[in-house]
Amino acid sequence: MGLRRGIGLLVVLSVAALNLVACATTTGDPPPTLYKRLGGREGIALVVGDFVTSMAGDSRVNARFKDMKGPEIEKLKSHLTDQICDATGGPCSYLGRDMKTAHKGMKITDAEWNATVENLTKALDKHKVDPKDRSELLGLLGPMKADIVGQ
Ligand code: HEM
Repeated sequence: MGLRRGIGLLVVLSVAALNLVACATTTGDPPPTLYKRLGGREGIALVVGDFVTSMAGDSRVNARFKDMKGPEIEKLKSHLTDQICDATGGPCSYLGRDMKTAHKGMKITDAEWNATVENLTKALDKHKVDPKDRSELLGLLGPMKADIVGQ
């Protein structure tokens, strides 16, 4: 290889190496979304499963769900999972009714809301969700209260 070609190759390789260094230092991986930190849709589905079981066993709220049949409960779980996946940055679309419509005419009370949050917290704790992530999720759901309670 001639000197000129050798120098030419060296320049090309040096530029390539500098670009790699620049990429490594300036980009880096983005932090995982809350969706990822919850274990993706599968992780969310496990939490939702325990949450719904816990709601069904809680006399403060279970009268609300007593007339629902197996397939309806499964649909509710699937909707809740999609809703949380969607809200936390996951690749899902919640296609159920909006919260105002879904809870219309139920006159859900503050006490029922609090019991529900308690059951969700319990399910998140059972699955060892980090308290910071737990708060982040509860913070995303909190603003829905206005559309759910007292409708
Ligand atoms: C953050 C709080 C809550 C969220 C995110 C939530 C979410 C949902 C979702 C996604 C559905 C399904 C809607 C659809 O299929 O179109 C639903 C239905 C329902 N929710 Fe909630 N909900 C919450 C709080 C509550 C509370 C506090 C109660 C009562 C204790 C309640 C009782 C119900 C019932 C009974 C249904 C079934 C309605 C039906 O199929 O006719 N929800 N909720």
